[in-house]
Amino acid sequence: MHSNLKRLKKFEPEIENLLEEILEGLNKPQKELPSKLFYDKKGSSLFDEICDLDEYYLTRTETSIMIENIEDICSILGNNSLLIELGSGSSKKTRLLLSGLQSPAGYAPIDISEEHLISSVNILAHDYPNLKILPVSADYTQPFSLPKFDFIYSKKVVYYPGSTIGNFEPDYASQFLNSIGHRLGKRTGLLIGLDLKKDKKILEDAYNDNKGITAEFNLNVLVRLNSELDTDFNIEEWKHCAFYNSKEGRIEMHLESLSNQDVQVNGDIVTFRKEETILTEYSYKYSIDDFKNLISESYNLEKVWTDEDSKFGILYFTVK
Ligand code: AVI
Repeated sequence: MHSNLKRLKKFEPEIENLLEEILEGLNKPQKELPSKLFYDKKGSSLFDEICDLDEYYLTRTETSIMIENIEDICSILGNNSLLIELGSGSSKKTRLLLSGLQSPAGYAPIDISEEHLISSVNILAHDYPNLKILPVSADYTQPFSLPKFDFIYSKKVVYYPGSTIGNFEPDYASQFLNSIGHRLGKRTGLLIGLDLKKDKKILEDAYNDNKGITAEFNLNVLVRLNSELDTDFNIEEWKHCAFYNSKEGRIEMHLESLSNQDVQVNGDIVTFRKEETILTEYSYKYSIDDFKNLISESYNLEKVWTDEDSKFGILYFTVK
């Protein structure tokens, strides 16, 4: 154990606790499964593969915006700030901040996948021996407490990259970020990555890659349910499907049933018609103005960095 690495705080939900949510979702007229089910060990590593795909411009674009503007970003975040990352995954982009920031006071990565978090914080603790790392394994949309920050810091900065906020419906996203602002109070910044509205074809390609990795990522939800819960989804009878709903401004990912079939879910039978779908994810795309207005109750927009095609935005807000 590295001396700069604090013991993991654990709030990871057990899959059994998700059972109620899963059954409720499968009983809705548009059946659905919670997208947090994507991120077991296998799903988290498939997501890492997605981030490297040619079609998935999001990660590449966000990273290049970071690289190009790292000095400006770090000077706005200031010296001695405490970085709190929501959904830290492999913490790849965070390394740019950790290397660019002047003596960061600490880093608290929060991630739902405990295994993934442990392996990435161990590598970080080795690579940044002077950095205090306070990992928390939690579903950050559910109540959990932050570690005690018993050291001096200039301000807290919530880092929320990857356009993950797009995976929530706008009302929820607004409520969630505004409540973080209230909870952390003044002297808090929010550095957030946002996928911007653009041509439908570019968007749809990003979620329908040629190698089929996104399809495997989507279908892995059923594989996971079969291995961790008492379900008997026949994976061969399901197909990945993703499209842009321009009216709602979102990519929708679904799993489509290839036949009329019955599936057992913990003693209950759920019936699917051929071509019926299970909704697994929304990925909302925003304009900068719409997003600014969405969270204006608690935040002032201070700065925006974007790429030359305005595909992706990195926005810095401060709590009002
Ligand atoms: C994590 N999140 C921002 C990704 C997205 O683009 O909405 C998840 C993803 N789903 C399919 N590909 C990537």
